[in-house]
Order: sequence, then C-alpha cells, then structure tokens
Amino acid sequence: MGKKEVGTTITQHILSKQRENSEATGAFTILLNELVVAAKVISREVNKAGLVDILGATGTINVQNEEVQKLDLFANRIIIERLQHIGQLCCMCSEENADIIEIPARYPKGNYVVVFDPLDGSSNIDVNISIGTIFGIYKRPDCAPETEPLLGDILQPGMKQVAAGYFIYGSSTVMIYTTGNGSGVHGFTLYPSVGEFLLSHEDIKIPERGKIYSVNEGNYTYWDEKTRAMVDYFKTKDADTGRPYTSRYVGSLVADFHRNLLKGGIFMYPADKKDPKKPSGKLRLMVEANPLAFVVREAGGYASDGNGPILEIDPKELHQRTPLYIGSKKDVELAEAFISGKKNELCA
Ligand code: AHG
Ligand code: MN
Ligand code: MN
Repeated sequence: MGKKEVGTTITQHILSKQRENSEATGAFTILLNELVVAAKVISREVNKAGLVDILGATGTINVQNEEVQKLDLFANRIIIERLQHIGQLCCMCSEENADIIEIPARYPKGNYVVVFDPLDGSSNIDVNISIGTIFGIYKRPDCAPETEPLLGDILQPGMKQVAAGYFIYGSSTVMIYTTGNGSGVHGFTLYPSVGEFLLSHEDIKIPERGKIYSVNEGNYTYWDEKTRAMVDYFKTKDADTGRPYTSRYVGSLVADFHRNLLKGGIFMYPADKKDPKKPSGKLRLMVEANPLAFVVREAGGYASDGNGPILEIDPKELHQRTPLYIGSKKDVELAEAFISGKKNELCA
C-alpha cells in the first residue's frame, strides 16, 4: 500500500461525487454501496471456485436458452438479496430472470431501477478466466404511477442511465463505474486485507484508436459480406493505419472490454446467422451493451450496433439482443462505416 494508510475508498469517492451533484440524494450512495457488498461476496465465491461445490452447471436452461451455471444463480441471488431491501428501487431486471424482478411488499420502494448481468462470461467460470458482473442504473420515469412497476420503467434507452459499470473478478477484483455527465470513469481495486475497494484508476480515458480487435472468428462462416469485409480490414497489412491489429478474445465480455478500455481497441459481437432465434447476435442490449456503452462514452469511446449509437436504441423487449461494436471511437466508427454500407473494402 502507498504512503497513505488506506487511500480513497469507493464510499468516499461516491460521496465526493454526490456533493458535486446538488440534486443527488444519499439514495444513490446506498444503492452503489450495496452493489459493492454483493460484488465482494461474489468475488469471494469466485476465488473459492474449485474448492467448494460452486462450479459446474445446474442442469437448467435460462430465459436466454443457455445452460445456467451454479455461479450464475449464486451471483443473481446475492445481488437481488442485497438490493431488494434498501428501499431505493422500484424493480430490477436480471439476465437470469424472464420477467421484471419486483420488490417484495415487505420492503419500501424507491425511484431507481437496476438492470444487471450477474455473472458475465459463464463459459469461463470453471477454467479460471476472468468473469464479471455488469450493471446499469436508471431513474424511474417521473410519469410512472405509484402502482406496480411497468415494463416501461425498465425499457428506457441507454442514454437515460444515471450510472453504469462492472466488476471484473480476475487476477484482482476491480470495479469500474461512472455517473455520466462528464463525471469521468473511475476504477477501484479490492484490497482483500482491508475488505475495501480503493481508487486505483482515476478518470480513465480510452485511446481514440487502438491496435487490438476482439471478435469470435469462429463465427466467420455465419457473418454477412459486410461483416467479413470489416473484420478482414483489421487483419490486412497497412503501415499507415497500423494494421494488422492484434487479436485478443477471451470470451468474457467484461474482460475483453476492460482490456480495450485501458489499452485501446475494438470489441465486436456482430449479427450472425448461427442461431435463427438470435439474428442480432448473442449480446443483450439492456444488461450488457447499454451499461458498457454508457461507460465507454464517458471514457471518450463509442458503442454502435453497426448502424448507430447503442445508447439511442429504443428497447422493445427486456432481453432483446443487439450487435455490438464498442471501444476506441475511431475503430468503432470504422466498423460502423462497413456495417452500415458507407465504406467497403475497395476504399478501405
Ligand atoms: P454470459 O456469460 O452473461 O452469458 O455472457 C457471455 C457472453 C460475453 O461475456 C462474451 O463476450 C460472449 O458471451 C462470448 O460468446 P461466444 O462464446 O459466442 O464468443
Ligand atoms: Mn454476459
Ligand atoms: Mn451472464
């Protein structure tokens, strides 16, 4: 640890940001703090994985039609338990729950909505590769009646988020979050000996252009011509534009995104023809794309669905999927030019 005994804790940082924001109440601080507690519990289980019966599949299929891992359900339960009692939420939405998660009648409700992917990168849980938790926070629309939460309370464009971020359970446990509006993107590392997340990455800015592209090339046969041309572009030698880029893909969105956020680069999950039920690709708009798009915009980057900003998409369904191109602004704009048809390999 540096010369300061503890350094800036996440609570200290949130409170300092809260003081800068006149309309901020303590509600947001309470919410974020409980999310931190949930992450500490999940981190402990992730780091015990393999020692206790927390690995492996549950043998059930979730609403995403994907095999559910034990740690998926554990993380989901912990987050719901930690957040439902704080009196700050009107409802939640989880990747693991088909419908809106309502707040039990025994707890007071509040004006926030939390959407989350409790455990991202499930396929990497039992092979010791970094996984994470992704979250986005919205304010309930003012017009919302005091009755039970409606789908409209959750189905808001990503630009309406009041905060977003993720936890990454890797060689260390790191929390990255932003409250938007120029407040910056900040990272905190968990010091197990202290049991606190301490400020470790202040005001992260993503390089305007990177040298890394992240995509599952195993899907090449399922892509359309524009997508292939776009990926081929990053692989083609051209000294003036620093190509070919380096390929990096671990299969956990949070890990691939976090590396590119710090080093620069583009992560892509294009639309593909692999599964007729998922023509827009595998990633979820509400619980994966929107929170990370909110973070990357605040860090000076960009996130697109190939035709326009992720944050401007008007959601129609809770679990709708979207193609995702996210990271360094120039790289994502280039990918968007290919996918939207404004650029082809001839003038690459
Ligand atoms: P989740 O574990 O929440 O279902 O997310 C997994 C996602 C994402 O983390 C990653 O980028 C992507 O799946 C990898 O998909 P492929 O294995 O098809 O490349
Ligand atoms: Mn995920
Ligand atoms: Mn998940």
